[in-house]
Formats: sequence, structure tokens, C-alpha cells
Amino acid sequence: MIKVGIIGFGTVGAGVVRILIEKASELEAKLGFPIVIKRIADLDIKRDRGIAVSADILTTRAEDILDDPSIDIVVELIGGMNPAKDFILRAIEKGKHVVTANKALLALEGEDIFYAAEKKGAEVGFEASVAGGIPIIKAIKEGLPANRINSIYGIINGTSNYILTRMTNEGMEFPDALMEAQRLGYAEADPTLDIEGIDSAHKLTILSAIAFGIPLSYNEIYREGIKGLSSLDIGFALEFGYKIKLLAIAKRSNSEVELRIHPTMLPLNYLIAQVDGVYNAIYIDGDSVGSTLFYGRGAGDMPTGSAVVSDIIDIGRNITSGSIRRIPPMGTSKRMPLKIRAMDDVYSRYYFRFSALDKPGVLSKISGVLGANNISIASVIQKGRKQGEAVPLVMMTHDALERDVRHALKEIDKLPVVADKTVYIRVEGGEGNATG
Ligand code: HSE
Repeated sequence: MIKVGIIGFGTVGAGVVRILIEKASELEAKLGFPIVIKRIADLDIKRDRGIAVSADILTTRAEDILDDPSIDIVVELIGGMNPAKDFILRAIEKGKHVVTANKALLALEGEDIFYAAEKKGAEVGFEASVAGGIPIIKAIKEGLPANRINSIYGIINGTSNYILTRMTNEGMEFPDALMEAQRLGYAEADPTLDIEGIDSAHKLTILSAIAFGIPLSYNEIYREGIKGLSSLDIGFALEFGYKIKLLAIAKRSNSEVELRIHPTMLPLNYLIAQVDGVYNAIYIDGDSVGSTLFYGRGAGDMPTGSAVVSDIIDIGRNITSGSIRRIPPMGTSKRMPLKIRAMDDVYSRYYFRFSALDKPGVLSKISGVLGANNISIASVIQKGRKQGEAVPLVMMTHDALERDVRHALKEIDKLPVVADKTVYIRVEGGEGNATG
């Protein structure tokens, strides 16, 4: 018998409890041992979650779980940094194993947790921390270890993907699409974590550490959110044959890895470009396997509960078979000496939208600055005709260096013939940065 203590009886906690209670006999038949919820701790033990939980396993004190020697696995589902970290470290210290969905904590302070777990010989399961119900951590650790991972492209924030989908399909502007996402309960009242790419960066930190064997590198991830996007650019992108997604990108080249989150134009025929609404997807290119794509629900009580329970089962199996840490949670403590490439040194194709005065010679002025900065133009369209006034001049480039692009745009934005700040969006697919 495996005994579990759950700290946090919110949305995900309720999903986990529902699965463990309602499928208890099915799970026991599958595993050959029962999983029993010994205690559930939450500050609110009065609210009805619609699940038949016996009142005597509910407590408001996490200590009732941490100090119970019969509990094998502590499931932390309260989120945030503290006291979540404290509870996890105390559980490990007491010789328990841990399951958590807490991406922010792992991304920012996970090294302390993995170190403590290694010292104590404890398991740490965190499947639910990335892409909810999609078993992507397991896929990388157990399905793809034969591969050198070349690249990862992830739509790993459902809220942003929902907003962009509404903007793309209905021409909504960002504030309206955000309001819709909030009304439907996809976006929080304070949507900062989701729309500024912070949540995606937490998840990319975890994915890249597993995929490349590098330390957790949250602070080195380049990040841009979706707040600045307008339906105008989404519309032009469609005309060029692209969709704009908030993409988490990790690419390896020899001894360096690029880690970045930003709105990205993806060719319409890419499978990952077709991932809409609140869905998540992760594309992984491995040197042996080639292209793979994982798709599913990235949030919600039951999908995330599915991931949490899969970790409980894995650890339960390891306990009962005497093979604890058969698969080390974060690989071995030997990390790969890969450098994170500075954003300035990244190559990409770019979409530019200049607000240029509609008069002779303007294009040559702009293209002159681009040429002088090693930026080669692939195509140009001028939208509309308003002599002497500003019109959108839209351009796609060949592969260019980010440093050169920033430098060029700074110069261009100072030209008297340019009326407004130039919009630029990075483009994946084609040329050297293909996503397959
Ligand atoms: N807020 C996240 C999202 C779900 O929108 O995908 C939890 O990671």
C-alpha cells in the first residue's frame, strides 16, 4: 500500500483526489497495490469540492502530513514559492518522496530541491509542471534518451494561445481577447504570468534542463510576451502564410543552446501552427527519432491531475519494487557544459512593419540601412496608398543576426520618413532555422 498526503485542495488538488478516489479499484488492479489518500491539507476544508472525501482525512495543518511517518509521498499543490518550498524540503528531510506541479518554484529554486532530494535519495515527480496533461517530461526522460535533442518548440501557455487564436480567427484586438479569456476563466484577474511569457519561461526552464542536461536557467531565457501584438500584424502574417504563436524555443548548436520565448510567425502548414485555443503542443526534434509532436490539454483539474497521479504511480511502483530513483528526477548531477547563447547572437528570419511615408525614395532609404547592417530582404509589400502619409510597409528578411536587426531598426526609426516605431516579429521555418 502506498500512502499519500496532499497539500493543497484547490483545482488541481481536487482533480487528483477525484482520480485517486473514483478510480481506486481500477488503479489497484493495474498496479497490484492500492494508493491511499491518508491526509489532505488546505486552509479551506469546508468548501464542497463535489467529491466524497471523509471529513477525518481533512486538515488545515500541513504538519499533519509532514510529521506523519506512515505517509510515503507528499503531493505539493499550493503553488507559489513559500511555504511550498519549505514543505517540499521538510518532506524530503523526513524521508518522503515528493510530487509537485509547481513550475515557478522548480524553475527558480529547483536546484535546491533536486540537490536535497539527491542527498536524501528521494524522488521528485514534476510531470504536471509542464504542459498539464501532456506527458512531456516522461517522453523526454524515458522515451527519447537515445537522442541528442536538436530543438524544442513549445506552445506551453494555453491562456496566450487562446488569446492569439481569438485575435487570429476573429480579428479581435488584444484587450478584448484578454477580457474574453478572463470571462471564461482561462486568464487570471492578474494575467501577467501568462501574457508576458513568464509562465512559458518557467516551463521552458524545466524542459531545457531535462532535454539538454543543463542547469535550470530561468534568468538566462530571453522573453517577450503578447501584449504588443496587433490584429494588423496577425492579418499580414496570414497573408504571408504564417500564424503568430507565443513560442518557447530551445535550439542546440554544438556547444550552445538558444532559449527564448516570444511571439513567432510559424508557416501555416506546420502542425504546431494548427494548435489553437487553450491547447498546448511541444515539437521535439531528436537526432535519431527526427520530428515528434506532443499535443493535449495544458491546464485544468483533470488533465493536470492525470499528470500528478502518473507521478504518484511511478514513485509507488519504484517503492514497491525497491528501485527508488531508477530514473533520477533531473538526470544525474553531471550537467552538460552548454552555454546559453546571448539573444544578440541569435539568427532568425524577421517580419518588419514600417510606418513609412508614401513617397518616392523611402524604400531605398530603409533598405539601405538594412543592407548596411547585413540584413537581406526576402520580400516587400506596401499596404495601401496614401501619398505623403504613413502606410504600412511590410517586409520579410532572410536569416539575420538579432544584434544587426536591433541596430538597423534603431537607425530606421530615426529616419524622418518613418512615422512610428517599427514592429518586428521573428519568423521560424525555412532557411537555417526550420522547425520541420
Ligand atoms: N496558466 C497556464 C496556461 C496553465 O495558461 O497554460 C498552468 O500552467
